[in-house]
Amino acid sequence: ATLSDIEASEVPRTPTGQEELDRVLGGGMVQGGVVLIGGDPGIGKSTLLLQAMDGLQRSGWNTLYVTGEESGAQVALRSRRLGLDKSQVQVLAETQLEKVLATVDKLQPAVVVMDSIQTVYSEQLTSAPGSVAQVRECAAHLTRAAKASGVSIVLVGHVTKEGGLAGPRVLEHVVDTVLQFEGDRHHALRLLRASKHRFGPTTELGLFEMVEKGLQGVPDPSALFLADRQTGIAGSVVVPTLEGQRPLMVELQVLTNEVKGETPPRRSAQGLDNNRLSMLLAVLGQRLMQPVGKNDVYASVVGGVKITEPGSDLGLCLAVLSALSDQPIRPDVVAFGEVGLGGEVRQVPHASRRLAEAARLGFSTAIVPAKSPEVDANIKLVRVNTVREAMKALGLTGKVPKRTDDF
Ligand code: TYD
Ligand code: MG
Repeated sequence: ATLSDIEASEVPRTPTGQEELDRVLGGGMVQGGVVLIGGDPGIGKSTLLLQAMDGLQRSGWNTLYVTGEESGAQVALRSRRLGLDKSQVQVLAETQLEKVLATVDKLQPAVVVMDSIQTVYSEQLTSAPGSVAQVRECAAHLTRAAKASGVSIVLVGHVTKEGGLAGPRVLEHVVDTVLQFEGDRHHALRLLRASKHRFGPTTELGLFEMVEKGLQGVPDPSALFLADRQTGIAGSVVVPTLEGQRPLMVELQVLTNEVKGETPPRRSAQGLDNNRLSMLLAVLGQRLMQPVGKNDVYASVVGGVKITEPGSDLGLCLAVLSALSDQPIRPDVVAFGEVGLGGEVRQVPHASRRLAEAARLGFSTAIVPAKSPEVDANIKLVRVNTVREAMKALGLTGKVPKRTDDF
């Protein structure tokens, strides 16, 4: 057959009822699909999956939660805490693969959670439980069982210090979908993304907040991130950034502090790439003659979000300029664009999505790359070719030298 002969049918999905999880899964669980979910201890993996299993069970699917880390009583305690008092999710406290498979065979659940894959071991193998060989073989076994019987399986995996999914990265090749559950210890915000997905996009982002009663979806993250914003402070600017396909309005804050004497200036970037910050500071120093070498620069993204795309460059430059000159940026302005080494402002993808989100939240003006396409959004565009033009458009002067040796 040729590709065009083959009918590309949509894979049927079973929604878990956790909308943010379903969004990342591309609609829900897939029959016979195997999902690996990784994340730091305490981030909320067990909580999320218990909530999802309960949702599936309530809509009539037979679910089994296999716990190798905690006792059945501990899982029950968590479910009470989550308010899932009458939960019909079946629980099995077991770590031996053969017994897990036998129970799956007997109960014929539609969805099984294995929390965690690192705790499972097989009698057939001589290597120690938790060893790479054990984890890999057990995952491969479970995956074969899923494909043979059509049961959907979710494997919980711990993240190692290096950030990879525990020990065997090879697990990522065995499963269909790899999800990463991330967050900042000091914030309630949790981000869920797919780094691999055989049945859907890897561009979706799921957002949750950890509250008293477990994980709650955050359908309007932009509003959440901007909720505590103080206007009229120098060094602050709002940037419409993109996380996968999802536009997020986040506030960037920069604080600068003149250093005395010969102390090397400190640079600190939170939620931003350190190298990117250094590069942009060099651009401001060389192209706009700003005294960045004489200032400590602290830059952060508010709310525990990490920005990984260059669309935030222009906003970051403007926040630095605003901080250096102690001139606040108008609060109804947003800015985005990639900044090149020449100080030029370059286009970034999805301008219309960013602008629509900014307009929705009531921003009136957007500083955008000159070549950005026309968009149908209720927001005034100020097109700029360079960081200098953007600075002028906002009435920022930058740091004006008092003495020549300031530079
Ligand atoms: P957990 O799901 O056990 O994390 P993981 O399985 O990834 O190790 O979540 C643990 C944290 O979540 C714990 O520090 C307490 C917190 N939490 C809440 O804040 N609210 C809740 O309702 C629950 C169940 C947990
Ligand atoms: Mg857990």
